[in-house]
Amino acid sequence: MIISTRQRPTKDEVEEAQYLAKAWDAVYLERDKKSFRKWLNETRQCIYVVHDKADKLYHPSCEEPFYFHPSMSFLRIKRMMKGEPDPLIETIRGKAGMKVFDATLGFGSDSIVLSYVAGEEGQVIGMEKNPYISRIVQKGLQQWVEDLSAFNQAMRRVKVLTGESYKFLREQADQSFDYVYFDPMFEHTSDRSPHFRAIRPHAHYGRLQENDVKEALRVAKKCVVVKSSYPNQSIEKLGFSFHNRRSRSSFRYGIIEKKGRIT
Ligand SMILES: C[S@@+](CC[C@H](N)C(=O)[O-])C[C@H]1O[C@@H](n2cnc3c(N)ncnc32)[C@H](O)[C@@H]1O
Repeated sequence: MIISTRQRPTKDEVEEAQYLAKAWDAVYLERDKKSFRKWLNETRQCIYVVHDKADKLYHPSCEEPFYFHPSMSFLRIKRMMKGEPDPLIETIRGKAGMKVFDATLGFGSDSIVLSYVAGEEGQVIGMEKNPYISRIVQKGLQQWVEDLSAFNQAMRRVKVLTGESYKFLREQADQSFDYVYFDPMFEHTSDRSPHFRAIRPHAHYGRLQENDVKEALRVAKKCVVVKSSYPNQSIEKLGFSFHNRRSRSSFRYGIIEKKGRIT
């Protein structure tokens, strides 16, 4: 892993890049006038680029770098503002004040939508295993500006943690969150957007296991929800049932409600 900056960086950017190189036990290299494509071909290493507006993560096997973009979350929130239902929020019956653990932060899109609904009284914690993705998304959530203050506030409220979610869940008290949400990487996906292609080589691919679901059910007060390709027998075998049967999309939300859930 190489940590660098844009061409003609500021002093702060250089200091941040040097700090990250140390923290991640990576090498800091000056950018000079090098083209990223040429640099990636020569080194065959990932390059993390510090930029005061938005950091980027390059992979030698991928044309597009990974960077923060709120993706569909902006459209989803605008639709909700018009009174249209959001499939994730509808599935979990999410409400203002809810406390959610998003175990697979990724781009942070679902966390933003959940945070918008949770509002100031609620809380969304998103965890990402890849430290570089985590840093880029954390920075983006704090810096990205849209012309919609409720959206900006929802982004700012998401608390980002770096680490292994299943380990985190084992350390949490019973019923400490209302919802636990999983959106693991699918090995095969119909999403061919450049944004999704850019995360693929960096993301963690781990299947949801019975023990992880058991822990999530212990930690959740209301339900555990998973985004999954559909149909998916291995997810159903874990106890999830699929909702939104009218949906024609290639994925669905699987849910396990906690026994005795009241609201
Ligand atoms: C499909 S993406 C999630 C997309 C996200 N729901 C969104 O709306 O942007 C899955 C992400 O979860 C991360 N991940 C997978 N397993 C994880 C784990 N056990 N702990 C923490 N992060 C994990 C991957 O590295 C990847 O970035």
